[in-house]
Amino acid sequence: MESNKKTWWKESVVYQIYPRSFCDSDGDGIGDLNGITEKLEYLKELGIDVIWLSPVYQSPNDDNGYDISDYQAIMKEFGTMEDYDCMLQKAHDLGIKIMMDLVVNHTSDEHAWFVESRKSKDNPYRDYYIWREGKEGKEPNNWGSCFGGSAWKYDEKTDMYFLHLFSQKQPDLNWDNPKVRQEVFDMMNWWCEKGIDGFRMDVISLISKVAELPDGEVGKSGYGDYSPYAANGPHVHEYLQEMNEKVLSKYDLITVGECSGVTVEEAKKYASSAGKELNMVFQFEHMDLDGGESFKWNHRKIRLTELKEVMSKWQTQLQDKAWNSLYWCNHDQPRIVSRLGNDSERYRELSAKMLGTCLHMMQGTPYVYQGEELGMTNYPFASPKDFRDIESINAYQELTEKGIVEPEEMFDFVSYKSRDNSRTPMQWDDSANGGFTTGTPWISVNPNYKTINAKEQMQREDSVFHYYKKLISLRKSHEIIVYGTYELLLPEDEKLYAYTRSLDNEKLLVVCNFSDEELKYELPAEFCGADIQILIANYQREQMEKNMILRPYEAVVCLKAQ
Ligand code: GLC
Repeated sequence: MESNKKTWWKESVVYQIYPRSFCDSDGDGIGDLNGITEKLEYLKELGIDVIWLSPVYQSPNDDNGYDISDYQAIMKEFGTMEDYDCMLQKAHDLGIKIMMDLVVNHTSDEHAWFVESRKSKDNPYRDYYIWREGKEGKEPNNWGSCFGGSAWKYDEKTDMYFLHLFSQKQPDLNWDNPKVRQEVFDMMNWWCEKGIDGFRMDVISLISKVAELPDGEVGKSGYGDYSPYAANGPHVHEYLQEMNEKVLSKYDLITVGECSGVTVEEAKKYASSAGKELNMVFQFEHMDLDGGESFKWNHRKIRLTELKEVMSKWQTQLQDKAWNSLYWCNHDQPRIVSRLGNDSERYRELSAKMLGTCLHMMQGTPYVYQGEELGMTNYPFASPKDFRDIESINAYQELTEKGIVEPEEMFDFVSYKSRDNSRTPMQWDDSANGGFTTGTPWISVNPNYKTINAKEQMQREDSVFHYYKKLISLRKSHEIIVYGTYELLLPEDEKLYAYTRSLDNEKLLVVCNFSDEELKYELPAEFCGADIQILIANYQREQMEKNMILRPYEAVVCLKAQ
């Protein structure tokens, strides 16, 4: 069957690097490309196949590189194009592929196209962006930006407004203009010719807006919701098919689209096994389960039954039709062990391993975010002054100033959900600043680096690092982990996540205790025989038993060859 076609990107494990926070080689407090090159052996040891590199392009850093001012130049803090080439070469020598972040829903306002575009209404670059007249002295419509305030900025020069779904320094490109598409495709081809191996496409589901740009439903912030008119918009599939034809199909690439607001039905189009658009998408349904009334800002804990329902829906409904990406963490999400696990001293490692097991045994391509393989935790913020992220800073200011959320409560919410939680520097060892920099880090290192760091974990066989290494290697030796069909067991259980995978004459059972309590678990009869092999477990466990007692955060995976 087409969908079960075996390909390297289905069998790969991707590791995301957020370069600013990974490894600083020159002591300026900011991670860089030479720092990444130094650490490639570490990644080889972990066993990953592909690196997704968050943006390294020239950028004024309003949104840490997601605001690009030149797609064919390297951010000066990160090094030079020669440094990039060295990194790419060494990665390839080690058998590691490089997937670039492609941020083309918007550019920086300092990009040459925008500098031209804002000069005059008849500038050849005017239509590269989305300009509109104001309505009765106000914005063209009521859309709010993702980072607070209106999604429109007034530009005096031509007395018009431009659209920015993200910050004011991230104007949206006009994808309806064929010249914009061609520029983007040319730039992508240039990178492909350099030898890169794929693209992670930033908010790609937002590139096509409904032409009339209608007002959206007004939410708590007082602004209208743009999503019905911008997410998975009218021409998005057409444009991605054109991209596929003009770029992607010419190379052997791994591609993943970040698709906010994507449904299973839409994902089947983006990531269809027919291969006309992308390989896979990042969906957000499981990450949005603890969203609240004031957008994502709250303390709500995700209910396991809801999580299972969402994960299982994606597992079963894409089966044979499209391909899943699997992730708990990235540079926009808080640390998973603090969110779904338990970051207390007693249970941090156990729960980090359990979460890794639960995700890595599913069908799809797993993504590991830097530090996840160490069980890194959220940061203990002490004051709003500690926030560095534009989203956190703006949200705190806007919602407290408007009196929508009380400052103390908002501080708690932002501390829990801030993107900064995942952006604190990678913890390499127990020396100053966790070995990340010899200078002053651009964002504070989590003080727990003395106990949680790569050096210590690499030396200790039962560490989270070694456990992730094993999870990754199991995927290489057992096809069932890549291609097996998923089936959820015990959907109503609030503490236990159990599922099976089946392929040909094999069956895999995955059992994960998401609680800090002991649980009784009756093993399905088919897994009670003597021929059952335990593939991985986060506690000492010699064998499976008919009536099992699962210890807090216990995870165990066993295989039955029929
Ligand atoms: C994506 C990125 C995020 C960025 C935003 C705007 O969601 O992952 O970090 O702020 O797009 O580019």
